Amino acid sequence: MSIKIKEIHAKETYHLRHQVMWPNKPLEFVMLDNDEEGIHFGLLKDSIIISVVSLFIENNAAQFRKFATNASEQGNGYGSMLLTHIIDVVSKDKNIDKLWCNARVDKTLFYERFGMVQTTKRFNKADIQYIIMEKNVS
Ligand SMILES: CC(C)(COP(=O)(O)OP(=O)(O)OC[C@H]1O[C@@H](n2cnc3c(N)ncnc32)[C@H](O)[C@@H]1OP(=O)(O)O)[C@@H](O)C(=O)NCCC(=O)NCCS
Repeated sequence: MSIKIKEIHAKETYHLRHQVMWPNKPLEFVMLDNDEEGIHFGLLKDSIIISVVSLFIENNAAQFRKFATNASEQGNGYGSMLLTHIIDVVSKDKNIDKLWCNARVDKTLFYERFGMVQTTKRFNKADIQYIIMEKNVS
């Protein structure tokens, strides 16, 4: 078995984003207006993309969005590998001092293991509760 993390095109994330996160919405729902400005990462298992995440940098902050692992591959550590990779990427960039995300509330414990901390900012979208989490990477 070979595992590889590489940059991919936004288009290559759509299928997993849709299938894993919003299967009941149209495919367009998972396409972001600024997808072309993002840096998209895929974790490939034997050349097949099984986990994706997208990074958007604005000023000195990097936001990761649309983090999804194929349902049948969840819980095997692939998401952790991908998150560790993007933390490494932003930590090496001297212009970035913060990594943040809109975390689904049920994922806060997972992110806390990577040093992300909860802020007081919360909101709801399509019946899902979110909390903004962040990590200093300077
Ligand atoms: C969030 C998500 C991307 C994580 O990806 P993943 O590949 O399942 O991540 P991991 O396997 O590294 O970690 C998932 C869990 O398995 C555990 N785990 C990691 N490696 C493991 C291993 N080798 N053996 C057993 N468990 C393991 C982790 O500790 C984690 O536990 P937790 O959910 O209790 O915190 C994935 O669950 C997903 O796609 N969820 C649906 C979409 C979503 O919620 N996206 C995030 C929005 S904020």
